[in-house]
Amino acid sequence: MCGIVGYIGHKEAQQILIGGLKRLEYRGYDSAGVATMDKNAKTTLLRSKGKVTELEARAQTHKTKDTVGIGHTRWATHGEPSKRNAHPHHVGDIYLVHNGIIENYQDLKHMLAKHDYIFKSDTDSEVLAALIDYLNKDTSTLLEAVTGALKMVVGAYGIALFSVKDPNEIIIARKGSPLIVGIAEGEVFIASDASALVGHTDRVIYLHDSEIGVCSREGIQLYDLDAQVVDAEVEKLELDLQAIQKEGFDHFLLKEIYEQPASLRSTLSGRINVKTNSVKLGGVNMSDDELRDIRNIMIVGCGTAYYAGMMAGYFIEQFTDDITIRSEVASELRYRSFHVPDNTVALIVSQSGETADTLACLQELKRRGVKCLGIVNAVGSTIAREVDGGVYVHVGAEISVASTKAFTSQVAAITMFGLMVAQAKGASVKALNTYVKELYLLPGEIEAVLENTSTEIKKIAKEYARFEHALYVGRDTQFPIALEGALKLKEVGYIQAEGYAAGELKHGPIALIDDRFFEVYFLQDNWLYEKSQSNLIEMNARGAHAVVITNTDKRISAEKVVRIKTKLEILTPMVFNVVSQLLAYYIAVARGNDVDQPRNLAKSVTVE
Ligand code: M6R
Repeated sequence: MCGIVGYIGHKEAQQILIGGLKRLEYRGYDSAGVATMDKNAKTTLLRSKGKVTELEARAQTHKTKDTVGIGHTRWATHGEPSKRNAHPHHVGDIYLVHNGIIENYQDLKHMLAKHDYIFKSDTDSEVLAALIDYLNKDTSTLLEAVTGALKMVVGAYGIALFSVKDPNEIIIARKGSPLIVGIAEGEVFIASDASALVGHTDRVIYLHDSEIGVCSREGIQLYDLDAQVVDAEVEKLELDLQAIQKEGFDHFLLKEIYEQPASLRSTLSGRINVKTNSVKLGGVNMSDDELRDIRNIMIVGCGTAYYAGMMAGYFIEQFTDDITIRSEVASELRYRSFHVPDNTVALIVSQSGETADTLACLQELKRRGVKCLGIVNAVGSTIAREVDGGVYVHVGAEISVASTKAFTSQVAAITMFGLMVAQAKGASVKALNTYVKELYLLPGEIEAVLENTSTEIKKIAKEYARFEHALYVGRDTQFPIALEGALKLKEVGYIQAEGYAAGELKHGPIALIDDRFFEVYFLQDNWLYEKSQSNLIEMNARGAHAVVITNTDKRISAEKVVRIKTKLEILTPMVFNVVSQLLAYYIAVARGNDVDQPRNLAKSVTVE
């Protein structure tokens, strides 16, 4: 989604801003811009459609030494991607960048038009800039105009702006859209995502909703919407440069697939104990009595986070018999008349911790008094701050738009939570034993799969990259990974892919099988093997181009068979999923796609 950067200090702002925007590229965008101001309030505004490199090229011929500025990468909502709609917007004295959506912008636009404002873009953001400019004509400070405007708008915002009336100040504000401020000697850095701050400073302040910050070379002062001073908490930024660099890999996606053994170890570290077959999650903040009382676990997320919840739900129901699990798509749940039974705990799953629909569900569940725990990666994110407790998955920065290492660790974290509940309920150590042991083994098993299958998958990918359609099929615990695999192929391969439960094939999708389709079939050698195998045979009989991913030694007839050697039993789908990630990656590369920033997508979906 859109990204914001800002700088006020003694260095050249333009280069710092463009550097910051490059760091935010992974979030997805379609245009970019920067506005800077010198000490005499002379401004330079540069905007361009397309990549930040286009903007950078323009900056080469419009270099400035200005030390104040704001910048933006835009992911179009109101109005097409174009230079005209790109931020910063300039209206009167004001230059502004905005993330989020101003829902009542039409009414405000109508009102401002009566006061002779003429709009050059189709955006809601330009209206906000105009509103601040309009109010600022009658206020003694810009802060007063900003608080006045923010009280009039309905919607979500993260904003940064400056006025030519004061060349020594940038004002920022947030509601429902993240903003982080980095503090250094005589400098303030502003960003919507911590990755833009790395290397500049590690002293940061996370803005809360409805806070406004006035930034100057002396630092930042926070206010509430009534312009009353608010105390700021300075925290240490736990993100290093290494985490946001490719380190020899061709793409972040491949790097992150390969990081999974390490990232999963950090999720599990200090939390599972194979000697005692026990799990302890420090951040859950629930007593044994409270854990024992849980009867329902509701798992909420979007996209890959939703599938991770579904996958873990399949595991948890295997080791607990008095807990009902439901996995919910946040964008649906938030508008449904859903019912929450007593003794429910909600697990709010989000890598970024900023997904708008997931956040809305969290807020609604909290309003109803439901205990909400976060399964979050981004430390300090909105969801992480608003939940009652939770588990950080600690996978480090996930830069590629396609989520991989977060999925694996989300499944592990939710499964650990299930184990902790089962433990509190007095489940036998023996029953938990296999899960704890397999979680412990999983990083090493993923390592082995990466080492042993990568070359084979790359070859298969080259051959199958010609297809425009795919069916991903799995039964039982293979079903969630069929859905997740199909999602990965869609987003990076741009191939229409459907995920289906094997038993559902005959209820419709088998009609799709023809020479335009290939099939990815997850076939685990377990108690359902015979049933799954017969679905495969039925597909083959209809001319399927099947790629079977399996852990069996038995004879299988299919176009391709990828055999995985693993010590795992119940967590086998987790290693199959890694093979499926590699397949999507290598197909995307073979098709020449923009692997890390797939078209039309954003890393963090902060608007509905
Ligand atoms: O940051 P979140 O985990 O809340 O994001 C949820 C989805 O937007 C995300 O998983 C999306 O589906 C990924 N691009 C899939 O790879």
